[in-house]
Amino acid sequence: MPFLSATLDRVKPSPTIAMSTKAAELKAAGKDVISLSAGEPDFDTPQNIKDAGIAAINAGKTKYTAPDGIPELKQAICDKFARENDLSYQPNQISVGTGGKQILYNALMATLNEGDEVVIPAPYWVSYPDMVLLAGGTPVIAEATIEDGFKLTPEQLEAAITDKTKWLIFNSPSNPTGAGYSWDELKALTDVLLRHPHVWIMSDDMYEHLSYGDFKFCSPAQVEPQLYERTLTTNGVSKAYAMTGWRIGYAGGPVALINAMRKVQSQSTSNPCTISQWAALEALNGTQDFLESNRALFQRRRDLVVSMLNDAVGIECPVPDGAFYVYPSIAGCIGKTSAAGTEISNDEVFATALLEETGIAVVFGAAFGLSPNFRVSYATSDEALEDACTRIQTFCAGLR
Ligand SMILES: Cc1ncc(COP(=O)(O)O)c(C=O)c1O
Repeated sequence: MPFLSATLDRVKPSPTIAMSTKAAELKAAGKDVISLSAGEPDFDTPQNIKDAGIAAINAGKTKYTAPDGIPELKQAICDKFARENDLSYQPNQISVGTGGKQILYNALMATLNEGDEVVIPAPYWVSYPDMVLLAGGTPVIAEATIEDGFKLTPEQLEAAITDKTKWLIFNSPSNPTGAGYSWDELKALTDVLLRHPHVWIMSDDMYEHLSYGDFKFCSPAQVEPQLYERTLTTNGVSKAYAMTGWRIGYAGGPVALINAMRKVQSQSTSNPCTISQWAALEALNGTQDFLESNRALFQRRRDLVVSMLNDAVGIECPVPDGAFYVYPSIAGCIGKTSAAGTEISNDEVFATALLEETGIAVVFGAAFGLSPNFRVSYATSDEALEDACTRIQTFCAGLR
């Protein structure tokens, strides 16, 4: 009998690992590699938040807490939802976990039975389908197109829903495309869900504060209050407050679901890091000045990258509304041959050739469920971005 669980056979290893391993090898061999694959801000956690963590250690706040969070942080999360999202939650409707990732995973573990379907719009964050599989469910991928701004249409959502659908996972602004749904676009999707009372919505609002230009962030239960009773609104401090390593995410939702998620967490990891919870409390309750300066910095970098990539032959780079990613199409490069003689047959070959020939590491589109594209993270310095985009332009100019 095989020793490893059959469930694991359903989950594929991260498709991005091969690329990052290759990048690390090239770097170790002395090649000048610039990685545009990071999923985290390139700057440090703000000082007031770090100080709160240090103060927690010095005050002896280093013991277990309630499995899904300290009351102070739950209250701060309720205040945040009311202040920023017009959503009213009570502390018993809040769950705090080890990153947004654990929150999403807990919710799927707490709700999915064999055969339950979860609608996931593509391009998607790589973890969604595999988390659904780990929890015993079936991912149903609904592919959004570049023509529709990488956003799911109401017709596509309608077509993806069956009697077995339990959840729609919704992510705006999106990883990997940066696409953000306007109020009206989101309302068109929630209208579909109103017609299907058995379908719940898991909203991943992780990139809320990284919204640019005219785009105004909105969340499903805010846009359609009738869905409040079947919405899990998830968020976290990782991206907005440059706190990826602190591992704090949270959600607001119906009490019965939150209780079920607590059960999963209390029998697996118990409470998220106590010190990090006190730091997250300062992130949410302390000065928010940092958010605006960050947002402005990322918007400037977005504009730089979009403009330089659109100047590359064969690349079409839509302007994203948020997050720190762009997701250009390389349809114009497919079928050509690189200067070093590689035939660009798909986006994985493109990304590998780009890395080997120019030292630029990106993530290929197939990893996110929509090809032929690649994802660039612009969470790195302006100088590195300019250098990297120039090398991409040279690579594309060399395609024959
Ligand atoms: C869309 C999306 N949701 C959730 C997460 C998880 O964030 P955390 O680091 O808080 O677990 C990420 C991280 O990359 C993400 O891109």
